[in-house]
Amino acid sequence: MKYLLQLSICLLLAGVAMAQQHPRRVIDFNKGWRFRLGDATSWKDNAFDDKGWRQLDLPHDWSIEGGFDSTHPAGNAGGALPGGTGWYRKTFTLDGGTVGKHIRIEFDGVYRDAEVWINDHYLGKWPYGYTSFDYDLTPYIRRGRQKNTIAVRVDNSRQPNSRWYTGSGIYRDTRLVITEKIAFERWGTFVYTTRNARGQMEFNATSEVLNLATRKANVKVTCTLVDPSGRQVALLDGVPEAATGGFRFKTILKDPALWAVATPKLYQAVFKIFDGLRQTDEWATAFGVRYFSFDAQKGFSLNGIPLKIKGVCMHHDLGALGAAFNRSAARRQLRMMQEMGVNAIRTAHNPPDPQFLDLCDEMGFLVMDESFDMWAKKKNKYDYYSDFPEWHRRDLEHMVKRDRNHPSVFMWSIGNEIREQFDSTGIALAKELVHIVKALDTTRPVTCALSENRPDKNFIYQSKALDVVGLNYHIEAYEDFPKNYPGEKFIATENVSGLATRGHYDGPADSLRLWPSGSKFKFVENGNADYTVSAYDNVAAYWGSTHEQTWRIIKKHDYLSGLFVWSGFDFLGEPVPYPYPARSAYYGIVDLAGFPKDVYYMYQSEWTSKPVLHMAPHWNWKAGQTVDVKVYYSQADEAELFLNGRSLGIQHKSDTAFHVLWRVPFEPGELKVISRKNGKTVLERAVRTAGAPAQIALEIENQGLQLNKDDRAFITIRVLDNNGNLVPDAQDEVRVAGTAVATVVAMDNGYQAELRSFQTNQHRVYNGLGLAILKGLKKGTALITVTSPGLKPASVRVWVK
Ligand code: GAL
Repeated sequence: MKYLLQLSICLLLAGVAMAQQHPRRVIDFNKGWRFRLGDATSWKDNAFDDKGWRQLDLPHDWSIEGGFDSTHPAGNAGGALPGGTGWYRKTFTLDGGTVGKHIRIEFDGVYRDAEVWINDHYLGKWPYGYTSFDYDLTPYIRRGRQKNTIAVRVDNSRQPNSRWYTGSGIYRDTRLVITEKIAFERWGTFVYTTRNARGQMEFNATSEVLNLATRKANVKVTCTLVDPSGRQVALLDGVPEAATGGFRFKTILKDPALWAVATPKLYQAVFKIFDGLRQTDEWATAFGVRYFSFDAQKGFSLNGIPLKIKGVCMHHDLGALGAAFNRSAARRQLRMMQEMGVNAIRTAHNPPDPQFLDLCDEMGFLVMDESFDMWAKKKNKYDYYSDFPEWHRRDLEHMVKRDRNHPSVFMWSIGNEIREQFDSTGIALAKELVHIVKALDTTRPVTCALSENRPDKNFIYQSKALDVVGLNYHIEAYEDFPKNYPGEKFIATENVSGLATRGHYDGPADSLRLWPSGSKFKFVENGNADYTVSAYDNVAAYWGSTHEQTWRIIKKHDYLSGLFVWSGFDFLGEPVPYPYPARSAYYGIVDLAGFPKDVYYMYQSEWTSKPVLHMAPHWNWKAGQTVDVKVYYSQADEAELFLNGRSLGIQHKSDTAFHVLWRVPFEPGELKVISRKNGKTVLERAVRTAGAPAQIALEIENQGLQLNKDDRAFITIRVLDNNGNLVPDAQDEVRVAGTAVATVVAMDNGYQAELRSFQTNQHRVYNGLGLAILKGLKKGTALITVTSPGLKPASVRVWVK
């Protein structure tokens, strides 16, 4: 007995030791690259001496480092930033422990036309800038003290190739993955949950094993399920499938914790391969237990509960940080969207960074994952259309395989406003693309964002291949949707295209301007000389509508399952309605620097249960001017406005208006609004006429920084008068002094026609606000001071851990 006990302890310890020796090694490959702009054929050679090149860590976007210029070939639609060709090289060694192993390099995204060499061997080219790809390095790798060199040529010189800012370079993560010869196929394991006829939730998985060993192996695959509290809830043996050579898993989950937007509970599935007794691989994925459906009458429901999809479209850039993915900047964007009440994101118009989906899984967003902005017909001279015939299958497959385990992903979009919708070539292509998706995932509906809203004129719709009809714009057609599309399910894949500059107001607030006014015009005919657009929610592109008009109709009918507003944030490029120097979009509910525009609070008042009271505009006007005061409120039944203590009356929202409005003859002083419920004050807001700029005030997000590649602190810089009022037109120059502990990586002010570089620690505020983004350099505490000539400076502390 004693002997047996000792033996089992030994085995247990051995088990622990074996488990610690993870059979799969994933090496972060982002550090220590050399980079150079330009092009030469010798730069691919191992023998080439790159010592003079710049050293940097990935992810990296060289376009954002350049200056704005109207002559850059991407045009202001591309953000007026440079493209070009650049090379990355990295020299490294691999220990002898990798002998007999399978070694791959993975790229999460390179914009664009990436060509890769290892040790003078050409691995291939990957044209599309938004899909992930990898190469097998095993035959070419050298071990021990011998050096390996990887060279990557990135070509973003053929311009224009996009309707928005793309960034250039290896702008997402890279890694080396080292496995045994018998290992899981990359993205070969698909995990999903279904609800059976008895209402039970079932876990399902299929797993493909790659056998690169020379012998035939008799392998076994297991799967352990761990619930959100860390408790193991199942250990499953994979059932071999003769047809595919893969393994299948299925089990009923008892009383599972469901993944929902308010409670994004995540399980883990850990898969292991055993070749006899030897474990040869381990691979884990998070998953969520959830079910959902679209209904032609009732709209969308998640886990059996009706849920209006309150979505925004987002491009992939992160404002002043450019396209280089940064987890903390992406989390900040998502947090702001969540606080506004957003529950869904459309990744316009391409697959996102995979970490973006991790964040959506964790934070509780639904995601419409979109593949393309064009198929074989172009929108720009050098865009993906010419690669489409040869590459679309691989790109689409990579998107679906990479992303299909994310519980956040609930729909696939095969394209945005694709030209083929207008002629019969759209039929066969739509069928083919849907077929490619369905071969890999039948658990999610497929849509396409259609701008031709007449069913008989739309050939992609005519294909009958779409599960849900996705319409862009034309909100006037929504009322008749059930009549014109009998029995079809609806999603507004994109609408609004309202325009605004944060803090700028042109009245009257209640008359809509279409900028530009029609298809005859490229730009607004009589815009503002300073390239601003009013933020009263009274300006939209002619194909769009105001935020309020749009939400009013979506809210009205259950069959309208929801919408994706164009757009959550301002983004680089596409500065409709202005020419250069405008260089970033006006569409955002939040500006490029992350400062909400007023309409943010309209959504917050409608989409959350938080009491909201927000008043626009500021209170610095000319004497005698009549100023429209627009107020958003919620969780209250009235609002009362006061000017210098005098009541200007009480107003109530009607069922269909999401704001109240006063026309007020300006006089300097204090404008105050109070919201009340049953006669009791709920909230109070006041704005005072500001004097001259006198002082700086700072506010910091993420004050305790981790010393890693991603963590960033965000400092909001406010220019105030002597009495602490925001100076609403301040444009003061500010300087942020970093220290040896933390430094400024970029600055912004959210102004769409600002031509100063983001890559600076000296910038100016715009309409009173500026942003500085900091990263840690070493552990310690930093006192970050912001100064401006003539203003009282301010400081804020940052901890780097
Ligand atoms: C849509 C398009 C978006 C963006 C938007 C601007 O038609 O899908 O990418 O261009 O218009 O209003």
